[in-house]
Amino acid sequence: MTTTPTTAKLPDTDLQPAPYTGPSRDEVLALRQEYLNPGLITYYREPINIVDGKMQYLWDDTGKRYLDAIAGIVTVSVGHCHPKIVERVRDQVGKLCHTTTIYLHPTIAQYGQALAERFPAGSNLKVTYFTNSGSEANDLAILMARMHTGSFEVISLRNGYHGGSPGTMALTAHSTWKYPVPSSSGVRYATPGYCYRCPLGLEYPSCDIKCASGIEDLIRYETPGQVACFIGEPIQGVGGVVDPPPEYFKIVYDIVRKYGGLCIADEVQTGFGRTGKHFWGFENWDVVPDMVTMAKGMGNGAPIGACTTRPEIAKKMADRLHFNTFGGNPVSMIQGLTTLEIIDQDGIQENALTVGTHLKNRLLELQDRHPLIGEVRGKGLMLGMELVKDRQTKEPATEAAADITEEAKNRGLLIGKGGLFGNVLRIKPPMCLTRDDADFIVDCLDEVMQSIA
Ligand SMILES: Cc1ncc(COP(=O)(O)O)c(C=O)c1O
Repeated sequence: MTTTPTTAKLPDTDLQPAPYTGPSRDEVLALRQEYLNPGLITYYREPINIVDGKMQYLWDDTGKRYLDAIAGIVTVSVGHCHPKIVERVRDQVGKLCHTTTIYLHPTIAQYGQALAERFPAGSNLKVTYFTNSGSEANDLAILMARMHTGSFEVISLRNGYHGGSPGTMALTAHSTWKYPVPSSSGVRYATPGYCYRCPLGLEYPSCDIKCASGIEDLIRYETPGQVACFIGEPIQGVGGVVDPPPEYFKIVYDIVRKYGGLCIADEVQTGFGRTGKHFWGFENWDVVPDMVTMAKGMGNGAPIGACTTRPEIAKKMADRLHFNTFGGNPVSMIQGLTTLEIIDQDGIQENALTVGTHLKNRLLELQDRHPLIGEVRGKGLMLGMELVKDRQTKEPATEAAADITEEAKNRGLLIGKGGLFGNVLRIKPPMCLTRDDADFIVDCLDEVMQSIA
């Protein structure tokens, strides 16, 4: 484990991990190399052995503390091991872990109701099918869209990410992630609204949002003229925190619906207050989807996912038997229910807005000082900084992004990286982040950027 001294100071905390007595980093690394699938990547050149987590902080096996600014890839929403969740889950595990949905259990029913209450009034987004992951939720949404519309063709966005099952890998048109799966599975790829690197070489707003309206030609010429659905992330996460022009989703949804398709919002990263002003990412764009898929932050670290839709769309699922052994199990459900409760009680969404706005403003100041930062973007506590070697040519600074994440880690800050070229720093912390934590993120990145300049 390398530690670089830093003048940027990790905020003090009363939180303390229990003494760690398990295997060391080197022992764990050796076990992993011998016994785990080599497809499992570690994030850092010098991997770290994270053994404890409390709220926005993580500790490694040596007791070194880190500020977690990537939250298990946007998965921990209200804080690692939030005491209220720990208490409720302990209680549930002691009572009943599993039966499957063949019996009634209060938690799944109560959570279904609690989720329905989070959707816009009048949307009738009301009925939920619970899964164990975002991939499963997206697979299910596509299945339901195909059954409901009788059409097969699916449109997803280039640069998007929807999961690791064969079905969702086909939706994921992102050549550096997973395996590109041929579109023979009925998937066509549309142009995302990525203004910083407009795929059409145009400029907003004189572009007339052709990235969105072009979907009509895609449907006319590359499908039988009818589609089952469109799926898109309200802000592309893995793709590098890509938020489209404000009109984008409205144009796309209107066209897709004109050709008989349903619209799916993949809220796996953007849901549960992450974007600050709204509970769901789609609400930022003034659209209402026909289906919403979710996972990650909904369970604050539990393996959980879900697809919510309108009753008339979901009805088809009752034609045959569709069964998920662990989907909706009482332990995940209590974790989901308690997470919702904490989002309200701890003012989590408001915090994502206020601390997120402060953090973004400070990152914009950082951009003034470091030519490496081509763009700062995102909403709430879903922020990204795209790094470039030259602001004119926008040549991706991929190596610098890797160096910065590595060096930030040495100084006690864990951030993500992503984007088409691996040159976007992704900042998506647990949403209990404080203003002092936000200042540490910026001060630490400032120092790291100076050190590598
Ligand atoms: C937007 C989005 N959708 C779907 C998924 C897949 O979720 P899971 O890994 O839980 O299957 C991810 C995972 O990163 C994601 O970011």
